[in-house]
Amino acid sequence: MRTRVGIVGAGPAGLVLSLLLAERGIDSVVVEARGREEIERTMRAGVLEQGTVELLTDLGVGARALAEGARHEGVELRFDRRGHRIDFTGLTGRAVWLYPQHEVLKDLIAARLAAGADIRFGARDVALHDVTSDEPVISFTGADGAAVRLRCDVVAGCDGSAGVSRRTVPDGERTDYFRAYPFGWFGILAEAPRSSPELVYAHSERGFALISTRTPDVQRMYFQCAPDERPQDWSDDRIWAELNARVAGEDGFTLNEGRIVDKSVIAMRSYVCEPMRHGRLFLAGDAAHVVPPTGAKGLNLAVADVVVLARALERFFATGDTGSLEAYGPAAARRVWRAQHFSWWMTSMLHRDPDGSPFDLKRQLGELELVAGSTASATHLAEAYTGWPVER
Ligand code: PHB
Repeated sequence: MRTRVGIVGAGPAGLVLSLLLAERGIDSVVVEARGREEIERTMRAGVLEQGTVELLTDLGVGARALAEGARHEGVELRFDRRGHRIDFTGLTGRAVWLYPQHEVLKDLIAARLAAGADIRFGARDVALHDVTSDEPVISFTGADGAAVRLRCDVVAGCDGSAGVSRRTVPDGERTDYFRAYPFGWFGILAEAPRSSPELVYAHSERGFALISTRTPDVQRMYFQCAPDERPQDWSDDRIWAELNARVAGEDGFTLNEGRIVDKSVIAMRSYVCEPMRHGRLFLAGDAAHVVPPTGAKGLNLAVADVVVLARALERFFATGDTGSLEAYGPAAARRVWRAQHFSWWMTSMLHRDPDGSPFDLKRQLGELELVAGSTASATHLAEAYTGWPVER
């Protein structure tokens, strides 16, 4: 088999890339280890920057996000037992959309399949070969059991932090920038009505908490925990008591409680692999970088990567000039590092450092006062959260 762009991974990066390439008349094949049902079922975060929604809309896959997602024009920072609204739209004219990632994936998969795209779900033993030659190969066993060798002009590694793409770049050829945080997030899904019209990012002496949402009847909430916390050690009552303690305040704010249908612990880390290219293999999305979820940047950054990549590939296929391929990594990495800084900053401003002192706690409150009280500081947060411009 032969295609121009072999895409490993049918997540946001891989699927948006295949759509951007199709728009430019460049054919691709997507190879995905998971089954379609699993992808469409797996709950992930769901904050879409305005630019992401605009891009999906331009590509003809934004209708459901606009109709069923919720436009949020701000968030609440809670600290010192009070809520402080950051008015995104007032400060920047922009907003974000709450629309779960797996719904984005459903829309992308449906659109690609309707357009006759070749997506190989359930591919086993995916491996990359000859990526430094001008004809890299993706080998895999198809869902039907047949062995496939897919010859490509370039390979896009969009298979996440545990995929084969990143591991295909030899140790000596890449630098791993990594930071682990000394805490995790305990995440729950609860069958309950919304507790707040907007997301609540809460700082407290007991640690961080985030009140988010999925649908009018299902809410997503997190609280900072030890990295090795065990979900089974937490009864529903204990979880509600902890969450309520962290958001409690003078205004009497309390959470709408309900049956907890999912409990899990998420590691918090920052990671970047550079360069984002090895020969004809291009890393995009979580294959190239991971951000802690505090800045809600993961999906948006994956989409921004492939916008840059599609442009580079378009130039390459039009002119044969490999120089355009070299431009991808450095151009994408500039946004990645800005997002790394924002995600690290939000994380360190809002979480309790287990090794921190009373000074650190007071310093955080000083910083939060500044962010909430200064138009310049609040605008910085609002611009970053709603997303810097993406050039198509
Ligand atoms: C989520 O809804 O899962 C969510 C929202 C905002 C974040 C992280 C996660 O910053």
